[in-house]
Amino acid sequence: MPAPTSPRFDNRAKDEILSRVDIAQVIGRYVNLKQVGSSLKGLCPFHKEKTPSFHVNPARGIFHCFGCGKGGDVFTFLMEHEGLEFKEALAQLAVETGVPLDARPAESEGPAGPAIPKTELLKIHEVALQFYYQQVRQSSIAVDYFKARGLAAGLVREFMLGYAPEGWSSFCQHAGQAGFSDELLLAAGLGLQKSEKSSTYDRFRDRIMFPLCDITGRCIAFAGRGLNSDTQPKYLNSPETALYHKSKTLYGLHKSKAAIKTEGSVLIVEGYIDYLTLFQAGICNVTATSGTALTPDHVQILRRFTSNVFLVFDGDDAGIAAAQRALPIFAPAGLTVKVLVIPDQEDPDSFVRKHGAEAFKKLLLTEAQHYLTYGLNRALAHHPLGDGPEAKSAVIAELTPLLTALADPIIRGEFIKQIAERLELDARLIQGRFNRSSSVYPRAAAPEPKNEDVSADYLRTQGAQFIALLIHHPRLAGRAQELITPEIFTDDFSAKLYSMVVNQVLSQRPVEALMSENEDAHTKTALSAMLAKPVEAPDETIDEEFAHCVQRLRSLYLKNQLRLIVRRIKAEPQNAFALLQQQKVISSQLHELQRT
Ligand code: CTP
Ligand code: MN
Repeated sequence: MPAPTSPRFDNRAKDEILSRVDIAQVIGRYVNLKQVGSSLKGLCPFHKEKTPSFHVNPARGIFHCFGCGKGGDVFTFLMEHEGLEFKEALAQLAVETGVPLDARPAESEGPAGPAIPKTELLKIHEVALQFYYQQVRQSSIAVDYFKARGLAAGLVREFMLGYAPEGWSSFCQHAGQAGFSDELLLAAGLGLQKSEKSSTYDRFRDRIMFPLCDITGRCIAFAGRGLNSDTQPKYLNSPETALYHKSKTLYGLHKSKAAIKTEGSVLIVEGYIDYLTLFQAGICNVTATSGTALTPDHVQILRRFTSNVFLVFDGDDAGIAAAQRALPIFAPAGLTVKVLVIPDQEDPDSFVRKHGAEAFKKLLLTEAQHYLTYGLNRALAHHPLGDGPEAKSAVIAELTPLLTALADPIIRGEFIKQIAERLELDARLIQGRFNRSSSVYPRAAAPEPKNEDVSADYLRTQGAQFIALLIHHPRLAGRAQELITPEIFTDDFSAKLYSMVVNQVLSQRPVEALMSENEDAHTKTALSAMLAKPVEAPDETIDEEFAHCVQRLRSLYLKNQLRLIVRRIKAEPQNAFALLQQQKVISSQLHELQRT
């Protein structure tokens, strides 16, 4: 199976890489391969097995597992095993095989300036990485700092923590002597200049250095922490460059991605030190943002590795505020998200150092709340119900952005139920209020039955078939109400009809009665047609049929959302960024749905 490509990518480079790369050598880094006849065999890294069924055929450049069926070329392997995107795998193998990549800049590469190739930026970062790391040996200040923070020498080595010396140009001079230009130092954000003619000096001075790496482990930027509590700013970050986009960078992910996969979850913490303390304590399925709040891009990156997220925030006011800002970011993503705010004003670092890793794990298990529950609890804390009826209204107002961001109507429906219970309100009241404020996912003007007699075409739609199924198997109505909210139907007619039928069945009134209660001719004929025509599926497969229907409705809904978003991207170019994010999220939900 060839790796997916898009026209942006350099196909010639891909072919060239395939002709040069030794697939056995690449896979051999992860799998212990033994020669068996003409192919190599090992234990499959994609599923658990005791006898090897994972084959690599170097002559053909492919791998295949006869146990789990995974197979492909070296790109597929890196994408699947390391969670890389195609272009990331391409970049990694290009470096390894020495194949130059097409120099066309990717669209995300910063503003036009002197075009400095990324390879040059990577080189100078590698030099800086080694330079700052070496400085630790010559600086007792740095060694003392790491000791005081409880970071062992092995960890400092593993994460290449460093020290940027005092003085104005230690690094710039070092780089200059090694033949790097001022222009490159400036473009990399490692050097600064007071004015155009003046000399280049170091951005990072007298700071503890945290290298920031891309997912393949290449250093792309730095964060420097001041040594004293009064150093301003406390953390200084590299500026955005062609290599470093803070909204897409997650600290330490190159080291923790394997643990995230094996543990099946990721902890997102606020600080670098929090990350390092947890990692050192053996909690390795962790990452941290760098110099920015969580973004939808971070979420997209993480979902390649796991669908279980723990958001871990400091117990101070800033941490609590950050937790609240993070919730809507996750709302459209369809991930299982839990929030843990560390108690007693601690952060993960101080908590683990005081109470140990086991206590931290226990805290995570017992105290982390589902993020929607967390949001509801916070809103209730802000507006105590004892304050009077306005409080209920204020709680719902506070939750509206979160509700609006929930892309999945099933989850939204459940959340509304939960809110209704806590507020002792009728869920329909909240639903109604929410419908008015929901402009994020507008309803399609989808075809409604046109003729006087409802067309056979309408009766063949998924929506109509689902409603007919409920009419003939009323025991399914309860589950239907749980799983399907009316807005999942892509046309208003079906949405209304569905609500009517479900309410009727659940209140144990005959569906036939709806015909006399309704004025609308379309509704009457639709009902009569459905009542008259038995559902074709045999009885014992009804539950299966129901599950299929639910899945098809959800998939239609998501496809419709995608169509609407494409239309909106054209109509509202100013919102294109946010819309593209939504588009990504919905596409991946659709893929997930189609996989199951
Ligand atoms: N941060 C930043 N710039 C600042 C302050 C903070 O980029 N001026 C980011 C850093 O990524 C930092 C995180 O926010 O790691 C959390 O900040 P904070 O809680 O203040 O620091 P800690 O990580 O706890 O660092 P320390 O334990 O060393 O105080
Ligand atoms: Mn801290």
